[in-house]
Amino acid sequence: MTEKKEFKCRIVSKEFLTPDTAYIGIECPEAASSAVPGQFVNISCSRFLKRPFGVASVSDDGRILYIGIKVVGKGTEELSGLMPGDEISMLAPLGKGFDLTGFDSYILVSGGTGVFPVNFAYETLKSSGKKVAVVQGFRNASQVILNDPSFVLTTDEGDAGIKGTCIAGLDSLDLNSFPNAAVLCVGPIPMMKAAGAWAEEHGLKCFVSMEQRMGCGIGICLCCIVKVKADNEDGYVNLRCCKDGPVFDYAEVVW
Ligand SMILES: Cc1cc2nc3c(=O)[nH]c(=O)nc-3n(C[C@H](O)[C@H](O)[C@H](O)COP(=O)(O)OP(=O)(O)OC[C@H]3O[C@@H](n4cnc5c(N)ncnc54)[C@H](O)[C@@H]3O)c2cc1C
Ligand code: FES
Repeated sequence: MTEKKEFKCRIVSKEFLTPDTAYIGIECPEAASSAVPGQFVNISCSRFLKRPFGVASVSDDGRILYIGIKVVGKGTEELSGLMPGDEISMLAPLGKGFDLTGFDSYILVSGGTGVFPVNFAYETLKSSGKKVAVVQGFRNASQVILNDPSFVLTTDEGDAGIKGTCIAGLDSLDLNSFPNAAVLCVGPIPMMKAAGAWAEEHGLKCFVSMEQRMGCGIGICLCCIVKVKADNEDGYVNLRCCKDGPVFDYAEVVW
């Protein structure tokens, strides 16, 4: 099991992908070299609680870990203002990542800030030689980030890629090219529910990464509960998103 440690580390790069989304490189060889796709980091800011972000990539030399930060409140506003040279305190890597070896091919679906963890999964699958398709869903062209021409792009407003939700993108795939495939999805809840239902319709397993509000990030405070089906009186058990997830089997989540 990977040991979880708090690191003092330095910001080494920063760019804005959109006016409200920063992409930040953090030098932390210990965390970068052990992080796997689907895991996240928990970063201190001046707010009471640390803030969680999915690992978006790691550098080839295993020294730098990248995260994307979309500004939605005070914590993300502060963290998106970090500059190269600034020092942060970070718990990493946290949680359990995706199974990227148990299937012959993968269909990755992402939207919103879910594109960050999915980017890391894509890079890892590509370098392992697995067959992989990526479907990205955004509201409109101005929101499109971390896109590659090989991806299937969808926008609700239709000003880039296929008009519609990620389901229109999934429907455009030739599934015969994806033997023994699994669907991995990170995005808003409606997107993950829709992608999971689509996968079930097509006889595929789907794994989702839940982004519950978090406190400690390490399994102690119990504020990040995900209900998972169980064969007991209640029909479910409460699992911790940070420690037992954030990746869960779509079919096992009580939505
Ligand atoms: C495992 C995990 C991975 C994540 N990965 C990323 C990532 O790669 N990039 C990124 O930009 N964000 C990511 N998030 C969400 C990010 O952690 C929150 O947006 C951030 O903590 C909000 O902090 P804040 O102080 O700016 O906003 P707050 O003042 O705390 O909240 C502002 C608004 O954002 C909403 N919000 C806060 N936390 C969440 C959450 N977890 N999910 C949905 N809405 C939330 C609040 O309900 C509120 O409406 C992730 C969250 C989790 C749990
Ligand atoms: S955030 Fe504390 S238990 Fe998950």
